[in-house]
Amino acid sequence: MRNILIIGIGAGNPDHMTVEAIEALNRADTLFIPDKGEEKAALRALREAICARFIRRPDYRTVPVDIPRRAEAGSDYHGAVDDWHERIAARYRALFETELAEGETGALLVWGDPALYDSTLRIMERVAASGLALDWQVYPGISSVQVLAARHRIPLNTIGAPILITTGRRLAEGVPADQDSVVVMLDGEQAFTKLDPAELDIYWGAYLGTPDEILIAGPLAERSAEIASVRAEARARHGWIMDTYLLRRRPA
Ligand SMILES: C[S@@+](CC[C@H](N)C(=O)[O-])C[C@H]1O[C@@H](n2cnc3c(N)ncnc32)[C@H](O)[C@@H]1O
Repeated sequence: MRNILIIGIGAGNPDHMTVEAIEALNRADTLFIPDKGEEKAALRALREAICARFIRRPDYRTVPVDIPRRAEAGSDYHGAVDDWHERIAARYRALFETELAEGETGALLVWGDPALYDSTLRIMERVAASGLALDWQVYPGISSVQVLAARHRIPLNTIGAPILITTGRRLAEGVPADQDSVVVMLDGEQAFTKLDPAELDIYWGAYLGTPDEILIAGPLAERSAEIASVRAEARARHGWIMDTYLLRRRPA
């Protein structure tokens, strides 16, 4: 049996590593460091900085994981994601078999918290279902959503009300009438610019937790164009961007 530690590492600030996550890092024989997307150099650098800072043994071992790209989704989004996850699972299975001996422990460093818009846990289920004898444990991390709320000094929910956490793709369908607090992630299309801004405030953050953090808040009608332009400029300058925001409906 091989054992895998799924460790949430926070969304950009190494100070957000929990004590539990640090202890888990130190139990791993091998650390698997994924490489993906346009932001890969910056994200890989953060993972490497976390290993260098928190692993007490100087001779720890890392193995890069070349994450396959997702095919264009076209009309079959779920089919494209399913196929992509299958290919990632096959990659992980091959690496676990070749890079970990029976009885050894590997670690996957997952951005933010592994439970939030991250497929690592679904992929582990696939690897196990493929027949490899495997056990795994999950260590929560501080997610970008928590950093967003902390930086803007706001609670995510209004009193006694629910929060919707969704994607830019789904927000394009509009803010549901029964929601007054909507957190939006994975929005490459700036869906907030296409909404009716009436009665909405936005609390936006990019590169949260990093030295490049940008925060903008205010009525959506007044801030929408400013955020779109700041975002485009920052993305061009860095070569990548990650941003998250809360939309809050003002009380009637
Ligand atoms: C694949 S999801 C991963 C979320 C991650 N598991 C978490 O807990 O934050 C990536 C999305 O998370 C958000 N995100 C992650 N890190 C961020 C950061 N440092 N600043 C702003 N948004 C971030 C962005 O919306 C990005 O598109």
